[in-house]
Amino acid sequence: MTAVDQGVWAAPGRINLIGEHTDYCDGFVLPFALPQRTVVTAERLDRPEWSVTSTLTGETVTFDLSEPVTGWAAYVAAVVWVLREAGHEVPGARLSIDSDVPGGAGLSSSAALECAVLSALADLGGLDIPVEQRPSLAQRAENAYVGVPCGIMDQSASTLCREGHALFLDCRSLATEQIPLDLAGQGLAILVIDSRAPHQLVDGEYAARRAACERAAELLGVPALRDAVLDDLSRLDDELLIRRSRHVITENARVLDTIALLREGRLREIGPLMTASHASMRDDFEITVPEVDEAVDTALAAGAYGARMTGGGFGGCVLALVEAEKAATVAEAVTTAFAARGFNPPATFLALPSPGAHRLS
Ligand code: GLA
Repeated sequence: MTAVDQGVWAAPGRINLIGEHTDYCDGFVLPFALPQRTVVTAERLDRPEWSVTSTLTGETVTFDLSEPVTGWAAYVAAVVWVLREAGHEVPGARLSIDSDVPGGAGLSSSAALECAVLSALADLGGLDIPVEQRPSLAQRAENAYVGVPCGIMDQSASTLCREGHALFLDCRSLATEQIPLDLAGQGLAILVIDSRAPHQLVDGEYAARRAACERAAELLGVPALRDAVLDDLSRLDDELLIRRSRHVITENARVLDTIALLREGRLREIGPLMTASHASMRDDFEITVPEVDEAVDTALAAGAYGARMTGGGFGGCVLALVEAEKAATVAEAVTTAFAARGFNPPATFLALPSPGAHRLS
């Protein structure tokens, strides 16, 4: 590949239609990319040094990897680190970062940053990194450098999604299929409700859920919960592990059922699967909070076909499948319900399936 001296690259946030906490269980997910994205303007430097400016805060962090980088710039350093680890000659660079992906909302602002930086550095260095290998690199950057034990969904979505499609990803084989998601063509919309619930203990809880799933798989004698079926649960005697596993097993089945309906163009019928996914996250996986439960219940009462929380949990966003013409009414109903309960006002917007990471100029 020919190296370029400078350019502008973008990578999007994502929303997950269905398949939550299944990625690190070798299971199935169905995310799509959002129009909200992180944009990196970059130029190559002739020395092994990286200088990163956030246009949001005006802050600049400069590093050469001789010392650990912390804070938001750690996500950038992590990408430089992982590329070097993989044997690539990463060029020094000056990077300027802008983003309209809301942070802390479960929409993968970190993956958007990692994937945009990875695209920029790959092109600046003329590095030959096939697009299918990029999600694993970005995930490893986050796992090993930043120290977040995330699965592979977010980085895959930010890299591989296509406009107008959801990405069906088998997180074991990493096989993908682009599933057409023509919402507007069927008069539908996906309303996103950012609960703006304050996040608490998120990292510890995420790691605890992952550890429980791995423990359950070990006790069942299978490589991952992807390989378990509901009948296996009678072989576990820990009530908590039974519930955690039941979420993953039923969630994987719901992803496959959703895809079967989407393939037949029966979009409205995925609503009950979305709502069942939420109930499973609330009751079995225990990762919802009152704000997201309220958003789901109110959206359904206001006429949504289905609604569920998306992302790691403990706050963040809910997505509701609605008739396009009803989206504003549903959003209003949720805003009113939040006010009545004394919650922070939610933010709402419509999600349009958008393209994955690419060079803008
Ligand atoms: C976060 C992680 C993903 C995935 C989801 C839950 O977004 O980064 O890997 O585990 O939570 O589905």
